[in-house]
Amino acid sequence: MTTPNPLLQVRDLRVAVGERTVLHSVSFDVQPGSLVVLMGANGSGKSTLGMALAGHPRYHATAGQALLAGQDLLPLPAHERAHAGLFVSFQAPPDVPGVKNNLFIRTALNAQHEARGQQPLDAFDFLASAKQAAKELGLPETLLGRPVNEGFSGGERKRNELLQLALLQPRLALLDEIDSGLDVDGVRAVVALVQRLRSAGTAFIVVSHYLQMIEQLQPDTVLRLDQGCIAESGGLELARSIARTGFARPPLQTLGVEA
Ligand SMILES: Nc1ncnc2c1ncn2[C@@H]1O[C@H](COP(=O)(O)OP(=O)(O)OP(=O)(O)O)[C@@H](O)[C@H]1O
Ligand SMILES: [Mg+2]
Repeated sequence: MTTPNPLLQVRDLRVAVGERTVLHSVSFDVQPGSLVVLMGANGSGKSTLGMALAGHPRYHATAGQALLAGQDLLPLPAHERAHAGLFVSFQAPPDVPGVKNNLFIRTALNAQHEARGQQPLDAFDFLASAKQAAKELGLPETLLGRPVNEGFSGGERKRNELLQLALLQPRLALLDEIDSGLDVDGVRAVVALVQRLRSAGTAFIVVSHYLQMIEQLQPDTVLRLDQGCIAESGGLELARSIARTGFARPPLQTLGVEA
């Protein structure tokens, strides 16, 4: 059997936030359509990795590469990374006052259509698919007409990230603790949406601390981030072992560190 080319290749990525280097040398691959779970203690740099891949201006990639389908994302502005097929959800989704949720998502979607030379969606067609997606995610339709995240409950914010994911249908999605704050039905909705998008070809990096959802997602790979590097790589058994024993691990040199 031949191994396909990786969809994402992260190579020796170093990321600084202000003066401080948070990620020292992160390397791993994501295969097309696969699901990678990223674990690590609080403050180990998981969200930093997501923000650096997305192109957040406070997170500076100072060395390394992040190739999406062979194209290095790091020199690109954030919107071009999105056009290349990257989606990153926020651990704590911010408010965007004054910008209606449905207009926000439609504008993002149509910007991607335009970048790919496709026809824009008209408002009527978009609203119909947004309403359907909101229903499937258990989001009240009224949230489509409100400013992005303003006054949304914690779980509504997370479901609203999922709504964007469902409508944008990226090639690669990084979901940062999407399960925190979600009720049991919300976690089921995450698993169902991830399964649906995976079968349509989307690959995932899922950051989570909770074994229950990780088990349901059936990851191909589990990575553990520690001291600015991928310290361990394995399958579901690695997530189970972390859930059992915590993040205190044997020294790095005794482990296979290849991601
Ligand atoms: N904007 C920022 N300003 C200052 N420090 C930051 C910023 N973003 C991240 N850091 C620091 O970088 C380190 C890594 O933070 P990060 O949010 O990436 O951790 P995490 O692995 O996502 O943790 P958690 O599991 O708690 O979400 C932390 O020590 C954090 O304080
Ligand atoms: Mg985080």
